[in-house]
Amino acid sequence: METVVSGIRPTGNLHLGNYFGAVKSFLQMQNEYNCYFFIADWHSLTTRPKPENIIKSTQTILAEYLACGIDPEKATIYIQSDVKEVLELYLYLNMNAYLGEMERCTTFKEKARKQPDNVNAGLLTYPTLMAADILIHRGVKVPVGKDQEQNMEMTRKFARRFNTVYETEIFPEPASFSLAAKALKVPGLDGSGKMGKSEGNCIYLMDDTETIRKKVMKAVTDSGPIAPNSEKPEVIKNLFTFLDLVSTKDTYAYFNEKWNDCSIRYGDLKKQIALDIAAFNAPIRERIKEYSSNTDLLDKIAKSGADKARESATKTLKEVREIIGFRF
Ligand code: TYM
Repeated sequence: METVVSGIRPTGNLHLGNYFGAVKSFLQMQNEYNCYFFIADWHSLTTRPKPENIIKSTQTILAEYLACGIDPEKATIYIQSDVKEVLELYLYLNMNAYLGEMERCTTFKEKARKQPDNVNAGLLTYPTLMAADILIHRGVKVPVGKDQEQNMEMTRKFARRFNTVYETEIFPEPASFSLAAKALKVPGLDGSGKMGKSEGNCIYLMDDTETIRKKVMKAVTDSGPIAPNSEKPEVIKNLFTFLDLVSTKDTYAYFNEKWNDCSIRYGDLKKQIALDIAAFNAPIRERIKEYSSNTDLLDKIAKSGADKARESATKTLKEVREIIGFRF
């Protein structure tokens, strides 16, 4: 059975970008693949979060994974920092990663711009840690959103390079996976390109009906279509992306028709989107509350996931050590 690996940083609650970009694929893949879904707590350290926030967010994401339907009987769910083997592979991959190529990564350049006082080596080597996460289980498919494309390219590069340097075929070159024809980018409703925590424009799975309504009603729009069947500007496309994600096909067709004949009222469109997101969130939110209050269960799941992940990681690492020349 092919292996699937993916992770999410614990930096707060899961938002709709996380859900539709990654988690929704996890849900399908857990039925067909050997899946490892983890919480990337080491990765979150690049921005120096407070210890209590890491603990809280890690628990939150775990509860939210379960509330979304990730099943610990089917998939291995674990916390990255419970599997120390990843760090050893990270070190080996770093020995074959070049400063120039790391500095050229757009995600590194963006982060360096955002936090000029803390351009740390962890930021620079973020892609090798991500590659180690995936390659430690020899993952071949990685369900992620569009924003992770460059990290995935780097992962393939490091896998290839290790294989070439050591004349081995130990690592497959993993591919990004998306349920849609191409990787998904869930937009923000504030006119910015993407929904994201640092963009401050997220609708969270935990948001209640009133919070969602307020966020959606504030969405940026334009002055309306000026000619029938015209192309939608970016901000309107964004609203339709949400319709596509959470509403029925009929609802989408109804508003599309209204756009095309220039009778659309953005207030109605937003109300509909808010209602449909709220309906989508409601059962997940209830389950998040249940799981969050059951910390014994969360601990048990994290522990058993860590055991399983460690077993797979140890196997890979044993081979890697032999290949590198640590044969004692
Ligand atoms: P992170 O924590 O930023 O995001 C988690 C997942 O959510 C997806 N995502 C989105 N997808 C579509 N539209 C959006 N607006 C949106 N916002 C977030 C991300 O693409 C991602 O799939 N580097 C990773 C975490 C990571 C990882 C890994 C992932 C560490 N190691 C190994 C896969 C495999 C990250 O920062 O994701």
